[in-house]
Formats: sequence, C-alpha cells, structure tokens
Amino acid sequence: MNSLLKDAQKAGERVGLKSDKIVINGGKPLRGRIEVRGAKNLATKAMVAALLGETPSLLKDVPDISDVGVVTGMLNAYGVSVTQVAPGELMLDPSNVLKAHFAEIDALAGSSRIPILFCGPLLHRLGEALIPDLGGCRIGDRPIDFHLDALRAFGAIVDKSYEGIRLTAPNGLKGAEIHLPYPSVGATEQVLLTAVRAEGVTELKNAAIEPEIMDLIAILQKMGAIINVEPNRVIFIEGVDELRGYTHRALFDRNEAASWASAALATEGDIFVGGAKQQELMTFLNIFRKVGGAFDIHEDGIRFYHPGGALKPVVVETDVHPGFMTDWQQPLIVALTKAEGVSIVHETVYENRFGFTDALIEMGADIVVHKDGLYGLTRRVPQRPLEQAAVITGPTPLHGADIRVPDLRGGFSHLIAALTAEGQSTISNVGIISRGYEHFIDKLDALGADFIYEG
Ligand code: EPZ
Repeated sequence: MNSLLKDAQKAGERVGLKSDKIVINGGKPLRGRIEVRGAKNLATKAMVAALLGETPSLLKDVPDISDVGVVTGMLNAYGVSVTQVAPGELMLDPSNVLKAHFAEIDALAGSSRIPILFCGPLLHRLGEALIPDLGGCRIGDRPIDFHLDALRAFGAIVDKSYEGIRLTAPNGLKGAEIHLPYPSVGATEQVLLTAVRAEGVTELKNAAIEPEIMDLIAILQKMGAIINVEPNRVIFIEGVDELRGYTHRALFDRNEAASWASAALATEGDIFVGGAKQQELMTFLNIFRKVGGAFDIHEDGIRFYHPGGALKPVVVETDVHPGFMTDWQQPLIVALTKAEGVSIVHETVYENRFGFTDALIEMGADIVVHKDGLYGLTRRVPQRPLEQAAVITGPTPLHGADIRVPDLRGGFSHLIAALTAEGQSTISNVGIISRGYEHFIDKLDALGADFIYEG
C-alpha cells in the first residue's frame, strides 16, 4: 500500500470515517515536537541517481510521502528493485535495468515532475528514454525547454510524439558547454545526472545551487563522479566511465521545517522541529524574526514560537538559493494576515503561485494579488516577466470556510489558515498534501490540533 493510502487509512481508523477531507476547529495554538526527515526534493532525485550505479545504493531518512511512491514505481518499471530495509531506508538495486512498458510509466508520470530527470540516466543505461506528459503541482506552465536544450547539447536527439518525448543518443552523450537562461533546479539536476557519465568535460553556467543540489552532488561524488562547484554559479563535471552505488543520509526537508515554523507563528504556538538545521534555513530565519517570530537553535532541531506581542509586516521577494524560497511564501502568508500593516510578497519564480490566496480571502484575509507584479519598488531580485505580487493587509481575523486544496504548499497553508480561524473549516482534497508532508495527520495530532480526518 502506498504512503498516501496508509496515511489516510491510519487517520481514518482513528475517527472511523472515509473520504479525503479534514474538518478543523480553529483557534488552538499548535504546541509540541515533530520530526522532519529527508527532503522530498532531494530524496526523489537521489533515487533517480541510483540508476547510474553499477552496484546497489542505500538511501537513508527517506520520507514516507507519495512522491517517493511515484519514483519507486517508475524505478520498478525500469527493473530497479527498491526495498525498504529499515524504516526510512531504501536499498535501490539497478543491476537489471530494462526498458519499461509505456503504459506503466505513463500512469505514474502524470502525478510528478521527477520523470524528466530519468532522461540522462536512461540514455546512458538503455540508449533511449521515453518521457510521458508530466505532472506535479499546477503552479504555472512549468516548461521543460531548459532540460531538452541541455540534453540536445549532450548529443541527444529529441522527438516529440503523441505519447510524449522520445530521446535517443545514437552517438553517445558528450560533455557540453551549457548556459541556463535561469538557475533552474530541475535543469541543473538534469545536467548533473547526464554529465557525470558523458564523455569529456561539461561546463554548466548559471546553475542552481540549492542545498538539495549540493547534496545530490555529494551523492554523485560518493558514486565516483568528479564535480567542481566554482564561484558565480559555474559547475564543471568531468565524465567518468563507471559509477557505483552510494550510501547516503538525505538532507532534511527545509520546506517542511519552514512550513511548521509558519504554523507555529500563525497559531501563536510553539513547535520544536526535530531534524531542522540552521544553515539551510538562514534566509527563512531572518524573515521569520523580522515578522516577530522567535526561534532557538538546538543540536537536534529548531524550536519555533510566537513570543507574544504583535507581528510585523514584511516585504519578501522569492528567489533561487540563497534567496527566500518560493515554497516558503504560502505558509508564511497566513502568518502575515496577522501582522499589523501591509506586507508584500513578490513571487519571482513561478507565474501562478498565489491561487491559494482565494481561499484565505474567503476566510476574511485582505489580500490583493497583482497578476503582472508590482514594479517601481526597491528590489534585490531582478524582475522577471512572469512575476506576481500579493499585498497582504493585516491584522484580519480569519473565519472557518469550506476549501478545496489546489496544490501541495498552498494546501498546507490552507491547513494553517483553518487552524488559526475562528470556527470550523472543512478542507477537501487533502491527500495532495501527502505528496510532500510525511504523516501530517499524525503530526497535527501530536501538536494538539482539534480536527477530524475523514480518510
Ligand atoms: C523544484 O522545481 C522543486 N520541485 C519545486 O518544489 C521548487 O519550488 C522549485 O524547484 C524552486 O526551488 C522539485 O524539486 C521536485 P525550476 P523545478 O526548474 O525544478 C522555469 C514543491 O512544492 N523553467 O527551478 O521544476 C520554471 O517555469 C515544488 O516542493 C523553465 O522556464 O523548478 C520556473 O519559472 C513545487 N524551463 C523556474 O524556471 C525549464 O525547462 C524555476 O523552475 C525549467 C524551468
């Protein structure tokens, strides 16, 4: 049974109900301790990297989330056996890689963006790759042109068919000079996963340097790769003939940690997030402090709490690392509805990441979304044609509402909004939250939330 179903079933058993929604009685601060495990946005890529090894890999701290289930299914379809050898520990054995049936991968690909990252490893292992239509959160167009241009630069031939995208490499893959138009996380990973086994040297300019990418580079180095990260977003990769399996503990999920931190602030609570580390959250911690939140850094995690007093408005621009991550803005905006004054959040990474604010407005928030951005203001992050801005005026008390979750991070912010709201909220389609938040129902329970999960 996959993690999503298990999560739903467990919670359902507790309350004796069936269906995919949660009824929350708001107004209770969240207090207690929860643990975060490996990052969704690293663990899933580390699993793909295992395809490149000649021997099995062992990945530790793998979160029990449905995106891991999707990647497991994809790897199984290609003949990679994935075995849980201990809680949170996966053994990935790529010794029998084979061509997958299209129907099998098509059924899985529709719910995740990860399949595009199979291209390089599959071209090296099988000489071809077929990528069906991709899924993932609906937060904009999310094109794959950078990925395909990079693969072409390595020598891949890309054919688009009614099934999806078919790639072949009749002359093998050769190191290339690649300059990304934008420091895309996925395209940087694509280049890394392809260049490590390509013939010759690859120079990647304008690379993303997110902590999850650094952790992927660490994994590839364990496998035998030679990768140099230079200043100014330049990465050199020297291709090698063979890679072996790795043993690695995944970097903690900083997006999940930041989400629970915002939940602590918005509900005037106090949450110890076990496993959270300061280094990867520095930019978030600065904004959290500016808004009026408090935190204590411990060896085994970070305590996030509302120290009392009024919250303060902020101006935030989402950006690539080391900027303020786009995935952090949705949960934070709920806390900003409680700040005294006008906050502005500029979303510069995706063109459609404020859809979740409709529900907050329905719940009483004063939020105006400027679909073409807000210009003429002092800026740190360069303007992008796709950007939008949300202006949040607070404090506004929120009241309960019926909400349908649109995407992963937006869905988590709806949970927080309902937890802070006066009265009862019913949130449907909450299963989507299990794509990236491990056992969130159990965690809400542990933090004293007042809810009924209808699983
Ligand atoms: C990753 O998405 C994460 N997903 C996202 O997290 C995260 O928000 C994002 O990086 C930014 O940090 C995973 O790791 C699975 P991008 P990714 O390529 O790699 C444009 C979550 O909730 N672009 O850095 O898909 C793109 O449209 C998810 O956990 C192109 O134009 O993001 C966007 O505007 C959501 N062409 C920008 O670049 C391309 O070929 C950044 O996207 C690729 C990207």
